[in-house]
Amino acid sequence: MSLEIKNVTKIFGTSRKGEGFTALDDVSLSVKKGSSFGLVGESGSGKTTLTKCILRLESLTSGTIRFEGKDIHALSKAEMRRVRARLQIVFQDPYASLNPRITIHDIISEPLIIHRETVPMSSRQRTERVEELLLQVGLSREHLFRYPHEFSGGQRQRIGIARALAVKPEFLILDEPTSALDVSVQAEVLNLLHRLQDELGLTYFFISHDLGVIRYVCDEVAVIYRGKLVEQGPVDDIFDHPKDDYTRMLLNAMPDPDPDLSPFRRVE
Ligand SMILES: Nc1ncnc2c1ncn2[C@@H]1O[C@H](COP(=O)(O)OP(=O)(O)O)[C@@H](O)[C@H]1O
Ligand SMILES: [Mg+2]
Repeated sequence: MSLEIKNVTKIFGTSRKGEGFTALDDVSLSVKKGSSFGLVGESGSGKTTLTKCILRLESLTSGTIRFEGKDIHALSKAEMRRVRARLQIVFQDPYASLNPRITIHDIISEPLIIHRETVPMSSRQRTERVEELLLQVGLSREHLFRYPHEFSGGQRQRIGIARALAVKPEFLILDEPTSALDVSVQAEVLNLLHRLQDELGLTYFFISHDLGVIRYVCDEVAVIYRGKLVEQGPVDDIFDHPKDDYTRMLLNAMPDPDPDLSPFRRVE
């Protein structure tokens, strides 16, 4: 197992008197190496809280999260840094997640500098790696010394993906990576993610509020509602035979549940 989440509960605001807010309630799921696991649920259901717990940006109230067998919340800072080089994230908002004051070259180089102990490189090698990454995500060398405001939303998300791939991680958390984009641009970015997964043998933990997007990218899916998983299994099973009312509601809310008619149809 690549990522194993066991009985994770996260309650916010327990230090003060009163009840606290249960953002995650006894969540368990496992992501197999090389697979693409989807987490779907409405806004406010706890998806980003789970991401933050995986990255150790939030503590757990109870439960465990293992990455490649290691208990993430029990690692030393140095061990956690090594794990972070293998476990990268692409954020939802390509406008907010890129520093507007530095060039694309410097944005994509950042993780190479942060992880220079794990992946030592000269500055020349770094620039070569950044060029290679730009090509990999469908941008070019000409973009190297431009600033984020010169790019469209789709291009910015490509830059975010290049940054996440810089240190050659094996695992990507994609927290609503296309939710801020227009539908036509979403499909392009999803195609790119699909191709990169094949080419690089990546494992994806793909978060979305949109079942259509999940069906396009993922092999397995877990459905989260108010911090609780209501069902999980192979994507096609969940689509064709949803057991839970909430899943059925999400399916009914989809513009067109027929994947052949969806804008996210896979282009092979
Ligand atoms: N630091 C926090 N303190 C208190 N409540 C929080 C905090 N972070 C998130 N929440 C609450 O937890 C719930 C889940 O949020 P979130 O994980 O961001 O949902 P999603 O990503 O699925 O939209 C929301 O109701 C949110 O207001
Ligand atoms: Mg979120």
